[in-house]
Amino acid sequence: MNPKRFTGRLLGFEAAALNLESQIALLNERLATADATIGMLDARVREREATVREREAAVRECERLIDTLKAAHGPAASWPQAGDDLDDSIDTVLPRLEGWCTPRKAHWLAALVRQNQALRIGEIGVYGGRSLLPMALAARQVPGASVWAVEPWSNDIAVALPTDEANDQWWREVDMAKIKRGFFEAVQGCGLTSTIKILELPSNLAHTVFQQEPTFRFDLLHIDGSHAEAQALADVKSWLPMVAPGGIIVLDDIGWDSVAKARDHLRAVGEIVDEVRENDGLTSYGAYRVNAAGLSPRHTEIKISEPQTA
Ligand SMILES: C[S@@+](CC[C@H](N)C(=O)[O-])C[C@H]1O[C@@H](n2cnc3c(N)ncnc32)[C@H](O)[C@@H]1O
Repeated sequence: MNPKRFTGRLLGFEAAALNLESQIALLNERLATADATIGMLDARVREREATVREREAAVRECERLIDTLKAAHGPAASWPQAGDDLDDSIDTVLPRLEGWCTPRKAHWLAALVRQNQALRIGEIGVYGGRSLLPMALAARQVPGASVWAVEPWSNDIAVALPTDEANDQWWREVDMAKIKRGFFEAVQGCGLTSTIKILELPSNLAHTVFQQEPTFRFDLLHIDGSHAEAQALADVKSWLPMVAPGGIIVLDDIGWDSVAKARDHLRAVGEIVDEVRENDGLTSYGAYRVNAAGLSPRHTEIKISEPQTA
């Protein structure tokens, strides 16, 4: 080949190679840019996925809360009815009621009703019905049994006699109307309106109502009203003669200093059936069988007006 033509072709190849190299460099640059864009988009997708997962978790938490609220208050949650198993009924009803009665105490009270076949059952200090409802559910299994509920649902009466400042402040502020509504709802829901008779009165006035029927006696009376020392003792002393010989008084919070005198009075005049302490002594209650001396064994009906609607 002619050397001139050879050199010309060589230069042509070199130019083509240079051109190719610059195209490859350009493509590499575009590839790097595309990689960076993909990386950025990947990061954004991962961010969005994390947000979606967070939001899904928040939605699940809301759904769980809605279910809990529905179970506790919603129309779908049903109240136990006559014929349902007693222990199941108590477990169903208890979380829906305001108050302090523990599950153990609720079943213990129901057992006292059943074991003693109590026909006349009473409670001083009902609040949201956490201790009264279990007794009333048990009473449904004792033919002819009735339950009397004594509760004023009044902030002023709750602090008529002082306890300690923090306790009194709490009782001054609690929404009694709401507590009462919840109780009436439960009584109606469980179909217990004919079993439970409500006296919306302080214990001393309710006592005068019962005194009008001198032969009326309780088989089981739960005293859980004011925990002020003078009131707790007055309740025990005044209601004691209203209990049938062999009947039982249950006193709440027997571990409280302010309730000690009332408890000691019951220990002195009655026989200890059981004294229970729960939660490291935070919860305590006792059952005392009342001696026969001087008490009438007869049961009679007492006339009490129908419960008012809330
Ligand atoms: C500790 S709560 C009752 C708790 C309920 N038995 C339970 O287990 O959830 C005390 C209740 O006694 C009521 N009370 C306060 N003084 C009273 C009185 N003089 N006569 C009747 N009830 C009274 C209060 O209104 C309050 O609802």
